[in-house]
Amino acid sequence: MSSNNIVWHDHHVSKDERSDLKGQSPCILWFTGLSGSGKSTVANAVEVKLAEMKKHTYLLDGDNVRHGLNKDLGFSDEDRMENIRRIGEVSALFVDAGVIVLTAFISPFLEDRDTVRALVKDGEFIEVFVDTPLEICEQRDPKGLYAKARRGEIPEFTGISSPYEAPEAAEIHLKGDMSIEASADAILDYLRDKKYI
Ligand code: ADX
Repeated sequence: MSSNNIVWHDHHVSKDERSDLKGQSPCILWFTGLSGSGKSTVANAVEVKLAEMKKHTYLLDGDNVRHGLNKDLGFSDEDRMENIRRIGEVSALFVDAGVIVLTAFISPFLEDRDTVRALVKDGEFIEVFVDTPLEICEQRDPKGLYAKARRGEIPEFTGISSPYEAPEAAEIHLKGDMSIEASADAILDYLRDKKYI
């Protein structure tokens, strides 16, 4: 049960100091798109490039987080909402630590993504829409899940039997035909242009 007797405690080392030590402005690169769209692949490529530049990052990935922090959650609308809410809170803590966070979750609902956006300051939430059409994701089917979903073996599968609400104004829009390298470079350019790095 939550308590009313908890008071926020201010830290002696500030977010600005933590960020300055790392030589960067923290933010969340929030990748959203269908399963198989390339979210994790592009996020990994971006993280490699940032590491080469000695930037401090952390990548939160759907399949991994669902083995630990969120292993109690499934794929109903309510569970997906809770999945994203927890990831949002964790990401906001990383931003407070001065880290550049990359998240790779389908995060199919507009409202849930906007809830995360509202957890951090203006400009700290960068939505990256990995806009790979369903047909292509289904052809790739790296985990064989689309085939299973089509056979009716996975209920509420995003794109097949559960909706995906595309972003209306993502900060970065990666079209399905872009290479991994070009996608990663577009994101690095954005971060440099806006002085995050
Ligand atoms: S989210 O909708 O709650 O954001 P998340 O990104 O954590 O989803 O997990 C998606 C991954 O779980 C997919 O890439 C896929 O490997 C797997 N998965 C298993 N069941 C489903 C399902 N019903 N719908 C979508 N993805 C599923």
